[in-house]
Amino acid sequence: MSIQFFPETKTFRLDTKETSYIMSVSRQGHLLHLYYGGKLGDDDISVLTAGEIRTGFSPLPYEYADGRYSLDCMPQEFSTDGVGDFRYTSISVVNSDGSYAFDGKYVKHRIYSGKYSLDCLPSLFSNPDEKADTLEVELADKATGVRVTLLYGVFEDKDVITRAVIVKNGGNDKIKLRRIMSCNLDFRRVGFDFIHFYGHAYLERLTEREHVTHAACEIGSVKGTPGHEHNPSVVLCDRNANEEYGECYGAALLYTGNFICNAKVDQLNQTRFVMGIHPEKFEFVLNADDTFTAPEVVLTYSDSGFAKMTHHLHDVFRENACRSKYMKQRRPVLVNNWEATRFSFTGEKIVSIAREGKKLGADLFVLDDGWFGARNDEHAGLGDWTVNREKMGGDLSDIIKQVNDAGLMFGLWFEPEMINEDSDLYRAHPDWVLKIPGRQPAICRNQLVLDITRQDVQDYIIKAVNNILDNNHIEYVKWDFNRYLTDTYSALCDNEHQGEIFHRFVLGFYKLLDGIILTHPDILFEGCSGGGSRFDGGMLCYQPQIWCSDDTDAVWRTKIQYGTSFAYPVSSMGAHVSACPNKKTQRTVSFKTRAAVAMSGTFGYELDTTRMTDAEKAECAEYTKLFRKYYDIITYGDYYRLTNPFENTRYVAWEHAAKDKSECLITAVTMDAYTQHHIMYLKPRGLDENAMYETELADGKVIIMSGKTLMKVGLPFDLFVSQYESRQFYIKKV
Ligand code: DGJ
Repeated sequence: MSIQFFPETKTFRLDTKETSYIMSVSRQGHLLHLYYGGKLGDDDISVLTAGEIRTGFSPLPYEYADGRYSLDCMPQEFSTDGVGDFRYTSISVVNSDGSYAFDGKYVKHRIYSGKYSLDCLPSLFSNPDEKADTLEVELADKATGVRVTLLYGVFEDKDVITRAVIVKNGGNDKIKLRRIMSCNLDFRRVGFDFIHFYGHAYLERLTEREHVTHAACEIGSVKGTPGHEHNPSVVLCDRNANEEYGECYGAALLYTGNFICNAKVDQLNQTRFVMGIHPEKFEFVLNADDTFTAPEVVLTYSDSGFAKMTHHLHDVFRENACRSKYMKQRRPVLVNNWEATRFSFTGEKIVSIAREGKKLGADLFVLDDGWFGARNDEHAGLGDWTVNREKMGGDLSDIIKQVNDAGLMFGLWFEPEMINEDSDLYRAHPDWVLKIPGRQPAICRNQLVLDITRQDVQDYIIKAVNNILDNNHIEYVKWDFNRYLTDTYSALCDNEHQGEIFHRFVLGFYKLLDGIILTHPDILFEGCSGGGSRFDGGMLCYQPQIWCSDDTDAVWRTKIQYGTSFAYPVSSMGAHVSACPNKKTQRTVSFKTRAAVAMSGTFGYELDTTRMTDAEKAECAEYTKLFRKYYDIITYGDYYRLTNPFENTRYVAWEHAAKDKSECLITAVTMDAYTQHHIMYLKPRGLDENAMYETELADGKVIIMSGKTLMKVGLPFDLFVSQYESRQFYIKKV
């Protein structure tokens, strides 16, 4: 069992292959954090005690007023609130007597094999052939009866530990939950850096690294969705950590809503890290016996840099998050019409893009926004999920048949949670949107948000979308979401519960995913939200892939995909070759480089294939072939960031390596033009030192080298080429 309890010391020990996580119950009854890091030996760990610490002005528990045990200083697993800890606490609750306090003390625990799952929220699952165990620890506040159950899931072979929390009102009167963090990690050290992924629409998940100091590092979202600005995944690492060196922790929240992540050094130079639902505009009423489940956090630790941490996260997100058959089955290369046509198309045009797309070697054609209702621009139609027969020149089934006859699968775009005022749905149900009485709701992209906290709205959406999916031969769906939430007020909810709407919206969203995605196991679903505003682990529990960004410029994409890759696997990143000059940046980059960058994702095309020359189509067909050749290492292999595009401005390089070390693919793109021959060496990682490998150099010469030499010397890459040129090196064991 990967989880042990030592009754003499009331210590819990969680072990994975290479990590240990230790906590114990203090004599005062609190669950204290003792250690999370590299695996400890099986020897005596009694030296690992939290001791009892305080500092000047530290409040002390009444019964221990003569001691040194202050909750403001002690490292806790789930920090108390209002009774002495002034740091960022795990919980804030207004009790039935109006007091703000929670002092959770150990009551009992349960250890069992298998991974827990959560009610109404996504969480990782364990596969039948792997070992995963669960620890549940119950803490209770004696004065109020409020209880929390801390859940720990241990994926032994994957070096991953998950955490979640269930709060129960065990008292007799209602309470209000104002804050609940899914994870609290108290480290008795300083010297961390905080790496996070920031951006805006069309430029998501850029990378920023800051020192964690006595001033908090904090990221989050209050937009109702994770948003473009921050991502619910972060890295906490040694100041000198890099891809191959240093201790680092990766954390990702499986939640598609408001979130917060905060890291701060306290007055005794200890570091507290918390992650959970953003407490702003959050208040959840719990009547007697009601429970609230806080979302899951996935944690991992690496003793040797970011690459190893990334491999742990990629492995669990590939194998333990999504049950779609497409996690194991080859995914289609697609052609999407959005950038080619936007809203201006006819059925005939769509069929010709698909037909010509076949010549690019694609397997699937995706009809994007604009096929339904009166949707000829952004002003109308959202909510009316019936085909616009006039625009399409017939039924959807006619178009699908022609696309299928051309040898392609057919995919369709939806934006189920949204509505235009100019729609039949809005005219029939103006009360179905999020809006506050007496105010006009804020408009974004000319659309409003459906109140999916309501059962009747959920039922409508599920029925309307499933009606299209069940009556047509649709094999792929792009599920979009193109605004943030404002005016989060539900007409069906009484005043006291309006603070629940943000969270209930997320729960409503997961109900839609249950009702649409889980009932269509044969359809490949791709998430999207104005590009990548909803790129989080919760989404990855339902959808194997997510459109990374509406910025398809290959140069920016190297940065976007770099940031995304810290937590999320390459197989989850929707990436396409689009036309040049690029629609967003006006930049022109060769087909070869655009293809090389899109290959580090799900690969597809966003082109008007009817305007391409035969030579261009043939060139694309070669790239499609190449992607298929490398599909397995790209999709299932280990990913290595060979350069940091925010530091190395000369070239960007990355690698996909087969897990069995038999082959790898290195891609490098120059970022500038050079006046001289400028040879850099690209050093592959993850090869077998003792094996011999063959590869072709840029000049066509084939060389055979040992893994050891290759990884030490690398392959020469001459930067004396034009700007944004790229080169791929395929290295294979002989
Ligand atoms: C935003 C998406 O990111 C685009 O790819 C496209 O699907 C549009 N929405 C359609 O409205």
